Parts: sequence; C-alpha cells; structure tokens
Amino acid sequence: MKVTVEGSGAGPAAVKRRRSGGPGRRQSGAFGGPGTVPAHHDVVLIRDILDKMGPEDVHLRAVTKAAAASGGPRTHPVPIITRTTIYKCKNFSVVVFLLPPGATIPLHNHPGMTVFSKLLLGSLRVTSYDWAEADQRPVAVGGDRPLLRLAKLVLDADLSAPCDALVLFPESGGNMHRFAAATACAVLDVLGPPYSGDRDCTYYQDLPYRRHIDDTDEAAGDEEQKPRLGWLLETRKP
Ligand SMILES: [Fe+2]
Repeated sequence: MKVTVEGSGAGPAAVKRRRSGGPGRRQSGAFGGPGTVPAHHDVVLIRDILDKMGPEDVHLRAVTKAAAASGGPRTHPVPIITRTTIYKCKNFSVVVFLLPPGATIPLHNHPGMTVFSKLLLGSLRVTSYDWAEADQRPVAVGGDRPLLRLAKLVLDADLSAPCDALVLFPESGGNMHRFAAATACAVLDVLGPPYSGDRDCTYYQDLPYRRHIDDTDEAAGDEEQKPRLGWLLETRKP
C-alpha cells in the first residue's frame, strides 16, 4: 500500500476555530506528552466535538483536491492513501486520511499516544488490539528473528459515517489498529502527541492465536479469553 504525505495547506476552518476558541484552549492543553493520558473531561470534550463534525468541517473538497494534486496518476495499480496534515504543533496534530475503496491502512501502533479517529465519510472495517499483558516481552521467532507478542482484540467492526469518534490510549482502547475501506473514506485523526522521529509507528501482521500455542503463553489456560487473543508479528513498513 502506498501512502503519500502532504504538508499542511488545507483550511480546516472548524478545527482551527475550535482550537482557538474556548474549548480549543483546553484541547491543546489536553495532551501532556508521550505516555500520558488526557484527563477524562478533556477526552469527553474532544470526543463530543468530533462526534458533531462532518466532512464540511474540514473543507473536505479542498483536502480531496489537494490530495489529488499530489497523489500521482489516477491509473496507479495500487490504491493510494493520501494523508494531509491540517494542523500540527508540539502537543498534537490533526490529520485527514483519504482512502479509496479497497485500500487498507495496515495494522500499526501509536507509541505513547492518545488518538481520536473520526470517520467523516464512507464505510470501513476497523480492527484493533491492545497487548494481552502490559509487561510481557515480545518473543523472537524464525530465522531473521521477527518479534511476536500476544494481543487481545478490542474491536472488529464495520463503521459507516456518520458515526461517533473512536479513541485509543497508550495502553488501552485498541492502540494497534487497522482501517480497511469498503468504500471511499475520509478519516480525521487527532494525535497527541504527534509521531516523531524517535517515536515512529511499528507495523504488524495479526495471526490467529490457535496457530501459535506454546508454553510461553500464560493466557493459554484462559478459555474465555482465547477467542479474542491473537499474535501480532512485527513486519516491515508496507
Ligand atoms: Fe492509526
């Protein structure tokens, strides 16, 4: 999957207005840096704002136009996902992803981050995981020693806009997720803090739990948990 990246430029009037207005001041103060979780009232506030947002609030036509201008030939054989940053500061960023039908943002994590995701347009399937055990070390497997770690499924559901925003946290809420577009989609992400050079995302392949039962797995005896368990295998950037 090819992902093109474009810098800021589109005019998300509603986002900027909300950031600079009363609630906006609290948003920029909501994110305390890597590994921190915003206060509950800030999470509720930001979610409430996003729940009420639609494509028009980010000037989606302008975003689509800008993405098309930077997205290369339309005949590209691989569906191209475009990512447009419409606001970025030290504490958080606001990004719009445009996905053509059939495109997938592969399973990836958000190290130390809180991320709000709002589906503005279209239908997609979201699959998300958290680690089964917070302090469990990944297991090296195979010849080139890829890392494998047990995870628990948090969400595996089809979403269609308009719908409420999702939120994930550093250790909960489905910090590893995948978006698979059934139709053309637009997703607005608020990421606090933004990714950085020393805190980039890791990609994974999720494998059924039944294929990897071994003695290192303490959760193997928990029959209730088994249907929601899976192994996440670190993969190269797609
Ligand atoms: Fe993500």
